[in-house]
Amino acid sequence: MLPRKKCLLLLTIIVLIRSSQQHSSGAPSGACIDQLPRHSTIIPQTSVPPYVIIPSASQVRQGDTMNVTIGSPAGAPVPIGGFILQARQIQNPDTIVGKFTSVPDPGITHMTTCSNQNDTVTHSNPQEKPALTFQWQAPTDFLGGIEFRATVAQSYATFWRNVESPLVEVVTRDTVITTTAAPATTTTTSAPPVTSDISSPPVTENRDLIYNGCDDTKLCFGVPQNCVSSGTCKGIVAVLVEGEKYTFELQGTDKP
Ligand SMILES: *[C@@H]1O[C@H](CO)[C@@H](O)[C@H](O)[C@H]1NC(C)=O
Ligand SMILES: *[C@@H]1O[C@H](CO)[C@@H](O)[C@H](O)[C@H]1NC(C)=O
Repeated sequence: MLPRKKCLLLLTIIVLIRSSQQHSSGAPSGACIDQLPRHSTIIPQTSVPPYVIIPSASQVRQGDTMNVTIGSPAGAPVPIGGFILQARQIQNPDTIVGKFTSVPDPGITHMTTCSNQNDTVTHSNPQEKPALTFQWQAPTDFLGGIEFRATVAQSYATFWRNVESPLVEVVTRDTVITTTAAPATTTTTSAPPVTSDISSPPVTENRDLIYNGCDDTKLCFGVPQNCVSSGTCKGIVAVLVEGEKYTFELQGTDKP
């Protein structure tokens, strides 16, 4: 066995052991909450993760389902080795909310249980994976902001913690969700500090403004794959890097 493969397998086993311990003790702790693989010497990367988490909508009604995708740069995809993904309350980030109802390929990913049944998804094997889309169901007993949060490992020794999606709002069942496309928003990640002062570039063509600069000045990540060049992404994150400053633009659409 190649050392790298062996390592990825180890990560899988560690995550699985943690989640089964979790299950038997019934109290969320360990990898369920801090999303860290248990290894004494390896620490998370501090660079900007080469992964993004893109929800299919910015609002979801209680009990309704939505999609959430873990992806990587459209031009130069970084495969996903291992991951653990959950929805968390914004106000109380240690609280896991909702549950997953479908995984893209049960052979490579599966649902597992931290606080409530199927509230977590993780990898089933260490194979390199492309972007993955999961279906998630909003809880019926919670209203407010949530985010999807993941630890994503490229390999055993290289992983990023707190890969976070833009905010998603869980709204009441009688809320009319009028927007089919989430407005482009600018948001921040916990580190490095971000200020949002991107000025709108002039419209040069018919496609959405968010694509302007993807060829040269911005890093653009979109789903499905290769959608950036054609301007047809269902979800897109654009990152403008200016020295120490990272400006994120996020946009999702729930058009079928
Ligand atoms: C959790 O997922 C399993 C496997 O897909 C399914 O059989 C079970 O009904 C799910 N449980 C809940 C509470 O959704
Ligand atoms: C969610 O994903 C499923 C399966 O990949 C797809 O059929 C459906 O259209 C998606 N829904 C949204 C709102 O993106």
